[in-house]
Amino acid sequence: MLQNSVKKWLLLALLVLSQHVYATEGMWLPQLLSNLNEKEMKGMGMKINASDIYNINKGSLKDAIVSFGGFCTAEVISSQGLLLTNHHCGYDAIQKHSSLEHNYLENGFWARTAAEELPNPGLTATFIVRIDDVTKAAVADVKPGMTEKERQSAIDKRLEIIKQQVKKESWQDAMIKPFFEGNKYYLFVTETYKDVRLVGTPPSSIGKFGSDTDNWVWPRHTGDFSMFRIYAGKDGKPAPYSADNVPLKPKYFLPISMKGVKKDDFTMVMGFPGRTTEYLPSEAVKQTVEVLDFAKVEMRDAALKIWDGYMRKNEQIKIQYAAKFASTANYWKKWQGEMLGIKKTDGIAKKQRYEAEYNKLLNANPALKQQYGGVLDTLNALYVKINPYAQNRDYYSELTKNVELLSAADKLFDYLDKMNANGSSDDSRNKFAGTMQDFYKNYNPGVDKDVFVSLVDIYTKRVPENLRGSLFNNIWSASGNSSKTLADNVYATSALTAHAKVMKLVQLPQEEMIAALRKDLGVQLAIALHEGFKENVAPQLSALQLQINDRQRTYMQAQMDVLAGKKNFYPDANSTLRVTYGKVDGYSPKDGVDYDYYTWLDGVMEKYIPGDYEFDVPAKLIELYKKKDYGRYGVNGKMPVCFIASNHTTGGNSGSPALNAYGQLIGLNFDRTWEGTMSDINYDPSICRNIMVDIRYVLFIVDKFAGCTRLVDEMKLVN
Ligand code: ARG
Ligand code: GLU
Repeated sequence: MLQNSVKKWLLLALLVLSQHVYATEGMWLPQLLSNLNEKEMKGMGMKINASDIYNINKGSLKDAIVSFGGFCTAEVISSQGLLLTNHHCGYDAIQKHSSLEHNYLENGFWARTAAEELPNPGLTATFIVRIDDVTKAAVADVKPGMTEKERQSAIDKRLEIIKQQVKKESWQDAMIKPFFEGNKYYLFVTETYKDVRLVGTPPSSIGKFGSDTDNWVWPRHTGDFSMFRIYAGKDGKPAPYSADNVPLKPKYFLPISMKGVKKDDFTMVMGFPGRTTEYLPSEAVKQTVEVLDFAKVEMRDAALKIWDGYMRKNEQIKIQYAAKFASTANYWKKWQGEMLGIKKTDGIAKKQRYEAEYNKLLNANPALKQQYGGVLDTLNALYVKINPYAQNRDYYSELTKNVELLSAADKLFDYLDKMNANGSSDDSRNKFAGTMQDFYKNYNPGVDKDVFVSLVDIYTKRVPENLRGSLFNNIWSASGNSSKTLADNVYATSALTAHAKVMKLVQLPQEEMIAALRKDLGVQLAIALHEGFKENVAPQLSALQLQINDRQRTYMQAQMDVLAGKKNFYPDANSTLRVTYGKVDGYSPKDGVDYDYYTWLDGVMEKYIPGDYEFDVPAKLIELYKKKDYGRYGVNGKMPVCFIASNHTTGGNSGSPALNAYGQLIGLNFDRTWEGTMSDINYDPSICRNIMVDIRYVLFIVDKFAGCTRLVDEMKLVN
C-alpha cells in the first residue's frame, strides 16, 4: 500500500519535472530581472541574485559591461580597466595600426608594457549607470486620434524635455529609446570613455581561424578575441586621449572561472544585441524568409560566385575583393541559415498556431475583443499589401550595392548634392577625390561588368516593368532587353569605370560637367533606377510602413494583454543592455547528425591546411600542441577551444561575456550556429545556439602562446 502510493507520488513528481521546460528564449532588461526572471534563473542553476547583476547602489555585473564603439560588446576583466572583446570587433583598430613592417593582423600584437598600448581615436566604451522607466512622461501629450506622425512628434518633444531634466552628473549622458514597438520608453544614464587603447591581439590565424568558410558554423575553432584598456582622466572620469590619462579603476570587474563547463550548466550572456523582430505576425515571417531573404540571397549568390571565380585565379583581385567578399558573405550566409531554420522548425505554422491561440483568448474576453479585435488581421493584410514593394526595395538595394559602378554613381551624386548646397571648393573636391581613390583602389571593371550582367538579369526578371519606371524601361529596350548589350555599352563608355575619368569630369566647368554627365550611360542608368524606385516604390512603401508601425504597436500591446500570465514578454533587441540565459547543450542540425557542445585544440589541427589563408596554424601553436604544453589551462592533456549553449543572442552580442552560475567569466560570445540564425524572428530552443570561445583558450593564448603574462597577472582567476 504504502509502497504503491510512494511509487505513484514519485512518478507524479517525475512527470511534473519533465514537463517543466525552461524558457531559454529572451533578451531581458537587467533592471527587471528580479521581477520577471530571477526565480527561473535560480531554477536553472543560477547561484547569485538579480541584484548582483543590476544594482544602482553598489558595483554589480552590469558595471563590468560596455558597449564597445556602439557596434559590439566588451567587458572589464581587471581592476586596471582591461577590456576583453572579439578579434572581429577590434579588427578595424588592429588594421589601422598595421603596416607592412608591423602587420598586426598577420602576426598579432602584444603590448609588453602599458607604454606600448596603442590609442584609437574615435573608439569608445560606454557604461550603463542607470535605467529608468519614463513611459508616462513620454506619452503625456499623446491624444487619441492622432496620426502616426503627430504622435511621434508629440513624443519627441517630450523626450527632449525629459532628457534636459534628468538628474545626472556633468560627465554623464542621457539617452531614451522606445521598447515594445513604442509602448514603453526607457531612459539610460551612461558614461562614455573616449581613450580606449589596444593591448593585445592574436594573429588572424587564431583570431579569425576558419574565416568565411567557418563563419556561422559549428563545430568551430576560432580564438576570436582581442584586448583593450580603458583610460580615464586622473579623476577617474571620461577624458579625451592624453598621454597623462590613467587606467580606469572600474566599479566592478569580472572574476574568471578556471573550471570550465559541462552539459546543462547554467550560462548567462550580457551585452548589447542590435535588432530582432520576434513579435511579427505570420505574414511578415513568411515574407521575411520566402520573399526578402530569398531576394537578397539570390542577388548575393550571383555576385559572390563571380567575385570568387576571379579571386581564385588572380592574386591582385583577391586582395582587392577580400574585404567586400567577407562583408557581403556574412549576411548572405546568415539569411540562408534563417530560411533553413524556419523551414526545419516549421516556423510559419508555429506563428499561425500562436495567432490561433491569441485569437481564441481574445474572443473569449469581450473587453479585450472590443479594444483589439481585428488588429492582427489588419496587420497581416498590410504585410500582404506591402509585399511587392518590399521585395522590389530589396532587389533594388542589392543591385545598387553589389554593382560597384552603381555605388560609385551614388558617391558622385552625394558629392554633387553637397556641391549644389554649399558651392564647390578645392577642399571638398580633394575630399571626394580621396573617397574615390579608396574606392577605385579595390575596383576591377571587368569583374564588375560580369556582376552587372548577372544582377541586371535577375533584377529585370524579378521586378515587374511597372515598378522599374519608364526611364529604366527605355534604356532597357534600347539595348534590346539584353543585360549583356547594356553592359557592353555602359562599361565601354561610362566615366564611372575609372578614378581618373571621374575626377576629370568633376573638374570641368559646371555646364560642361552637366552636359557630360547627361551623356554618360552609366550615370543615366543610375538615375533611371533611382527615379523608378522613388516614384513607383518609395511612396507606397513609406505610407504602408506608417500604417504597419501603428498596428504593430497595438498588436504588441494586445499580445501582452491577451496572453498576460501565460507568457513573459521581453522587448525586441535595440542595441540596449540585455541579459539572456540558457544552458550548455549540443544540438541535432539534421537527421542522423548530433553535435557535441565542445571543441578542442585537436580540431584546430584537424582543420589545419599549411599556407591556406583560412586554415593555416601558427608554428608556435603547433609546437605547444605537440608538447601538450597547456600550463594550468588544459584539461587532462587537452586544450578546450569553443562551446555552445542555448543563450538567445544576435549581432551586437559579439564580445559579450558568457558567465556561469556564480557570475564568473567562462567564455566570450562571438557567433551563432547557422541553422539557428532564425532566432532573430523566431527563437526555437531545439536548434538555436550561441558560440563562445572558452576563456581558458583565451588565457592560454595570452600566456603560453604570446608570453604576455603581465595581463594574466592583473586578472582574478578563481578555481
Ligand atoms: N558571423 C559573425 C557575426 O556576425 C562573425 C562575423 C565576422 N567574421 C567573418 N568571418 N566574416 O556577425
Ligand atoms: N558575429 C556577430 C556580431 O558581430 C554575433 C553573431 C550573432 O549574430 O549572433 O555581433
